[in-house]
Amino acid sequence: MCGIVGYIGTRKVVPILMEGLKRLEYRGYDSAGVVYFHDNKLIKHRAQGKLGNLERIIEDVLGVESHVGLGHTRWATHGAPTTENAHPHGDCNDDLVIVHNGIIENYQTLRSDLKKRGHIFRSETDTEVLAHLIEDHLDKDLVAAVRKALKKVKGSYAVGVLWKGQPDIIVAARNHSPLVIGIGNGDGTFLASDVPALLPYTRKVIFLEDKEIAVLSAEKWEVKNLDSGRKIKKQVQTITWDAGMAEKTGFKHFMLKEIYEQPQALLNTLRGRIDPQNGRIELPEIGLSEKYIKTLERIVLVACGTSWHAALVAKYWLEEWVGIPVEVDIGSEFRYRTLLLNNKVLTLSISQSGETADTLAGIKLASQLGSKVITICNVVGSTMTRQADATLYTHAGPEIGVASTKAFTSQLAALFLFASYLAQVRKTLPSNKIKQLGQAIIGLPTLLEENLPDLQKKIKAVAELFYDSRNFLFVGRGLNYPIALEGALKLKEISYIHAEGYAAGELKHGPIALIDKDMPILGLVPKDKVYEKSISNIEEIKARQGQLILIGSKGDRHLKKITEHVLYMPKAPSMMPELNPILFTIPAQLLAYEIATMRGCDVDQPRNLAKSVTVE
Ligand code: F6R
Repeated sequence: MCGIVGYIGTRKVVPILMEGLKRLEYRGYDSAGVVYFHDNKLIKHRAQGKLGNLERIIEDVLGVESHVGLGHTRWATHGAPTTENAHPHGDCNDDLVIVHNGIIENYQTLRSDLKKRGHIFRSETDTEVLAHLIEDHLDKDLVAAVRKALKKVKGSYAVGVLWKGQPDIIVAARNHSPLVIGIGNGDGTFLASDVPALLPYTRKVIFLEDKEIAVLSAEKWEVKNLDSGRKIKKQVQTITWDAGMAEKTGFKHFMLKEIYEQPQALLNTLRGRIDPQNGRIELPEIGLSEKYIKTLERIVLVACGTSWHAALVAKYWLEEWVGIPVEVDIGSEFRYRTLLLNNKVLTLSISQSGETADTLAGIKLASQLGSKVITICNVVGSTMTRQADATLYTHAGPEIGVASTKAFTSQLAALFLFASYLAQVRKTLPSNKIKQLGQAIIGLPTLLEENLPDLQKKIKAVAELFYDSRNFLFVGRGLNYPIALEGALKLKEISYIHAEGYAAGELKHGPIALIDKDMPILGLVPKDKVYEKSISNIEEIKARQGQLILIGSKGDRHLKKITEHVLYMPKAPSMMPELNPILFTIPAQLLAYEIATMRGCDVDQPRNLAKSVTVE
């Protein structure tokens, strides 16, 4: 939801801003803009649409002698995605400019007040209100004016502000939207919404917390409490990701690169967490005592979108292995219903970005009700990791493609470990079974690595037959029902084909009416304990002439009798059907990818979406 980048130092600023925006474009691509100081003036360039449009209009100023500036890539909330609504926004004379990520909830009231006081507005955005509000409080000190203005604001913000009166500083502040400072190697100070924008220049970062304000200059930085103005001692963290992790490295799209990175991402998530000698699961980072785990009465999983699908899979594992009741909630529903939580209920949030507003609000409520909160998260230092009592990191590396792929399978791996760990502590599974589960999942990355290229080839052939379909159904049962939901989500979000996922047994309660000879249905039918039931459902579809594509387990010749479109997945290591959700996700991801590229869609930046959803 909008990306912010800023720099002050000895380098030329425009290329830094553009490179940063490229790395943050996944956060929004409705418009983009930059602003920099030149000849004592603030020069703004803005363009509607993707970053490429801005790139075209600023070609001539890339080499401009300017060393201070801000950039922004927008995901529209208030006001259409036009150039006028693109950030940066200025005050009445454009002497002060601001970039903003978030939502100013009381902007209507503030705007009409400011209008009455003579301020002239040029956009429909909530952000422009901030520029005028700061102007209204500005005397000689930008920091004081920003503090006074933000005290009047309700809502969420990460902001970067520049003012002609103090051209040697950038002022930044955050409340419920992420912001990171990058400490250069003697060449300046950086600002960004997310770490990938900083990676080409530095790995030393400081994460701002809510209600903190930072003053950046070429040589130093300082962080204060927004309300009290008191200086805050911040911890400098070192990021281990390298710059190449946020580049396409020869792949046509980030999404495909990230699909291919899944074996490594899985390995990174599993590494060091399964004892190779005795198969015991070690998760000290979650900080749960044995006593607490043994007396736990219920687990609540909260997440959105793809991460919610991971939670749905985990419910099966947890209930079967640990024998503990599990509820799974969508963040935006959870936060507005009556929550029956207490200290005997563990809340687990799942999030790639760690910034999803609804999930964050959900865990805040859970904490207030006395529930312990653990988050499974991919982004080190993100808001969710700081809000939760403990974090189980997925270590998938930066995920840039808007459609989540490697983050999802890594979440599944982390949840698999988490469920096995609880079973180990509560002794609800024999240690031998836990060892087998651990060995099986450790074998999965190699199996995937070996099979990915061939699988892509086969999926491509299927995609060629179905890429112009108008609708698609995905069906699965048990552990693969959430994967049917995930397959449908992947297809609809990147190819714009209407797709639905269903529990195969549920079709006859309504959706079966949709089936005719023009309806493609992808069935997930691995050899597992609900195989026979799944096959009955598939036969029901066949009887209504649906066009079946079946994904099954290697060696299952029966599937060929049902349809000519069969794709075989290798059997899960140690023949453990518990691992099928991870395995069977891959063909669903590849099918969505191939179909979307055949339809000419922008798979990395699908329309109307943004990677991290920091608004409710
Ligand atoms: C879909 C997708 C989204 C996210 C959702 C939650 O491909 O990526 O559905 O899963 O917005 O995001 P996180 O996991 O960052 O909380």
